[in-house]
Amino acid sequence: MGRAIRIGQLGCGIVGSAVLRMLARNATDIEQRLGASIEVVAVAVRHLAKERDVPPGTEALYTTDPHEIVGHPDVDIVVEAIGGIEPARHLLLEAINNGKHVVTANKELLAALGQELYEAAERKGVDLYFEAAVAGGIPLIHPLRESLAGERVTKVMGIVNGTTNFILTRMAEEGLEFGEALAEAERLGYTELDPTADIEGFDPAAKAAILASIAFNARVVSGDVYREGIADITAQDIAFAKRLGYTVKLLAIAEQQDGEIAVRVHPAMIPNEHPLASVRENLNAVFVEGESVGELMFYGRGAGGGPTGTSVVGDIIDIARNMLSGGRGPGMSTYSESPIRNIEAMYSQYYILLNVADQPGVLASVASAFGSNNVSIRSVWQEGTGDQAQLVMITHRALERDLQATLGVLRDLPEVTKITSVMRVEGGET
Ligand code: HSE
Repeated sequence: MGRAIRIGQLGCGIVGSAVLRMLARNATDIEQRLGASIEVVAVAVRHLAKERDVPPGTEALYTTDPHEIVGHPDVDIVVEAIGGIEPARHLLLEAINNGKHVVTANKELLAALGQELYEAAERKGVDLYFEAAVAGGIPLIHPLRESLAGERVTKVMGIVNGTTNFILTRMAEEGLEFGEALAEAERLGYTELDPTADIEGFDPAAKAAILASIAFNARVVSGDVYREGIADITAQDIAFAKRLGYTVKLLAIAEQQDGEIAVRVHPAMIPNEHPLASVRENLNAVFVEGESVGELMFYGRGAGGGPTGTSVVGDIIDIARNMLSGGRGPGMSTYSESPIRNIEAMYSQYYILLNVADQPGVLASVASAFGSNNVSIRSVWQEGTGDQAQLVMITHRALERDLQATLGVLRDLPEVTKITSVMRVEGGET
């Protein structure tokens, strides 16, 4: 018999069970590609009796003690598929300290406390792979870290949350309000038990932090990411966006601006002709810009057992190859000293919807609020008349701080009855 690489897995939920199925189903191919077999030796589960879609015989590998996995003398690679900060953090640290290589899909942990794990892995000389942590089945970490290792990446912009993309797609295509589209997503089982992390943008913010860290060789944590969710978007905003030739998406954006790193997650209007505008339903896509390579786009399924499991299994095989060749994969490089840019200093175009009095001089006062704060108006039109009058405005690219100052002046203008909506516009002017 040839060599076997031995796996211990923490967790056997949707992703964990998909990993086990894939390892079993593709065992012959994997062995031929790798020159060794992958053998699962133990799987930690919380409830032994729970029914799971796993290959025959897996039940015999179950243990309810996760320490058995991370301390198992035969385990070469620990696969973490439990999620959340604890106990995942201390289990992975224990695994690394025991000399195990690690594969994890845990974006929350990596985005908050990744550095601790990266440093522990470096100290112990083990591999820590996490392709599945960002956008499930879409290869992003490998391309950014390896294929683009010689490139200077300037911007990463993506749709990295399927739930919110599904909701925004339904709002755009069926004219639904946010609450109606959320209810449909829940009915179809597209949401997590508690959809807050998706709706409020915490999930994409964690992914943005990881992407920014890799793309810019920096230490970016979730707390560095400016974040807004999609709960305040109305059917009216989406209708105006359509009329202006835009699509509304929840974007995760990481870019280098004047030597600083700017990372943010917020809804934005993007031109219909931008490749991200056509990413519908619960799909994900990430657009990468590099100085030499130009524009790249990665597209696919960002969640679900099959896609996420594919990335996990790919990582397992990569580590197994490193083990067989006696080498190591690329570690985390965080040499960048670039500071994190505050949202106030970031640039964007803006869409602003104002309810106004329909009388002479109103447009002049509104325009003056923009002009005196250095915000240039690109287009404006009036919708409705009398009590129903609204001004729909799009600005040129402006500083967030200047836009906020403009909104402050508009709030105090008696002619402006309400600042109904403000949304960024991306993917147009640079
Ligand atoms: N809840 C996430 C999404 C998937 O909707 O994309 C896991 O990150």
